[in-house]
Amino acid sequence: KYEKIWLAFGVAALVVFLSVVGVSAFSHDHTPAGGMETIDPKKVNETAPFDNPGVTQLDDDTYQVAVVSMAFGYNAPELKVPAGKEIIFKVTSTDVVHSFTIDNTKVNLMVVPGQITTKSYTFEKPGKYLILCNEYCGTGHHLMYNEIEVY
Ligand code: CUA
Repeated sequence: KYEKIWLAFGVAALVVFLSVVGVSAFSHDHTPAGGMETIDPKKVNETAPFDNPGVTQLDDDTYQVAVVSMAFGYNAPELKVPAGKEIIFKVTSTDVVHSFTIDNTKVNLMVVPGQITTKSYTFEKPGKYLILCNEYCGTGHHLMYNEIEVY
């Protein structure tokens, strides 16, 4: 008789354990730290917004900039955004860890395959800003740069 009680207790403990694991895995997927969303790195080019990288105006005061990082460059056509508006950067990688760093700004993002890194930034001054990778990513690391024009 005691065996049955222990068995029931064991099953109950297992159920509790599995649901705790399940819940934490679930919440980890959906509310990851740092505002990151997950993405299948093999399907980046067919997943919005990276299926159409570059600048998209979301409303009067908000623009989205989607950029794909890969060895050895950034896939983003002509980047031109207005000063004084909120720019939401969304960056991901198809291969290894890169960075998306805009010179002379506070935009310095770590770009990780499988994740979408999001950062909101407002440029104060018009001009041309250099985008570069400051995370060593292989032999073509020094070739990774791009430009964003703020008007
Ligand atoms: Cu990409 Cu260094």
